[in-house]
Amino acid sequence: MERLSTSTTAWLMAGIALYSATAYASVRASQDAPRTASTTWDAVFTDAQAKRGDALYAQYCGKCHAPDLTGADVAPALTGADFSANWNDLSLGDLFERIRIGMPADTPGSLSRQDNADVLAFMLFKAGFPAGAAELPTQVEVLKEIKFVAQKK
Ligand code: HEC
Repeated sequence: MERLSTSTTAWLMAGIALYSATAYASVRASQDAPRTASTTWDAVFTDAQAKRGDALYAQYCGKCHAPDLTGADVAPALTGADFSANWNDLSLGDLFERIRIGMPADTPGSLSRQDNADVLAFMLFKAGFPAGAAELPTQVEVLKEIKFVAQKK
């Protein structure tokens, strides 16, 4: 009886030691993870930013691309399967530049960098990507590091 309880205690101690080592390792791993987000699933914009983009979209984009982003006449949808297929695996830098230089089609290049980033954040929000603590940046080089990934892996 005495011997059994000693070995049980030993197993318990070993178990606790192993558990703490594993827990410590996983905390270390999350601290060491790169801070740069790499896809649209990594919470790359904020709710507040998407809200600003909502207002900008209504003012500058909705009349052609429809209020719900589904497109109308010659203006394509900015959400849904076709849009995702167009941009899947490309970078947010590419999409940002597409909007910044070519849109709004009637007055191209008229929005500020900040406004373009906010509108893009709104589009990501509508596509169902998660919001987070940091805003979508306005520099193309940084946006090029974030990949548009339509389906969560
Ligand atoms: C005057 C109408 C008009 C307005 C306003 C407008 N667009 Fe467009 N947009 C178009 C048309 C037409 C196309 C397709 C032809 C082209 O690429 O020029 C297009 C294409 C796009 C594309 C490329 C879609 C794809 O899948 O390749 C994006 C992205 C886009 N617009 C975003 C925007 C955003 C964001 C705004 C507001 C800041 C905006 N557009 C305002 C007419 C418009």
